Amino acid sequence: MLELFAWSLVAILLVVWLGIVAFGPPYVPTLSKDLEEVIKTLKIGAKDHVVDLGCGDGKILLACAKRGARVSGVELNPFLVWISRYRTRLFKDRVDVSLGDMWRYKLPEETSHVFVFFAEKFMPKLKEYVAHQKSQGRHFRLVSYGFSLPGEIPSEKSGAFNIYNF
Ligand SMILES: C[S@@+](CC[C@H](N)C(=O)[O-])C[C@H]1O[C@@H](n2cnc3c(N)ncnc32)[C@H](O)[C@@H]1O
Repeated sequence: MLELFAWSLVAILLVVWLGIVAFGPPYVPTLSKDLEEVIKTLKIGAKDHVVDLGCGDGKILLACAKRGARVSGVELNPFLVWISRYRTRLFKDRVDVSLGDMWRYKLPEETSHVFVFFAEKFMPKLKEYVAHQKSQGRHFRLVSYGFSLPGEIPSEKSGAFNIYNF
């Protein structure tokens, strides 16, 4: 019985993982050292509302919430949503973690920074997403780890992060 439960769990996790790989980048966390550096460069603080598209285990949300920022994350994997909520539980009043598809996620009006850690093949889609958000009146800094936006020149760089003003 226990074995059946374990195999069912493995099968469910595999299906969730395959689904995520089809719809977006798989889970790999940003390196702590790089994150601390970019947070300093951007001077993230209480004036900011940071969004992490595909927030994984909530690492970026937690780091920015600790600096006093409002933070919102969206994540497709329910297990990672649970971890993100648990990790940020001490900052509940300024943290929002949604279970859902980032491509359908509407940025909060007051968004100041959008963090992404995608893969090369999703960058053209991200460019369309950004254009759509701009058409909805959003103005923010896009902070992309490792990958650049096709046809756009970053206004700034911090380690492996490319920073764009939109
Ligand atoms: C490379 S990880 C980055 C995690 C975190 N942002 C960080 O930098 O530490 C990408 C995350 O995006 C999530 N993801 C992939 N496709 C998604 C989608 N369509 N909607 C929401 N989250 C998605 C994955 O589950 C994964 O946790």
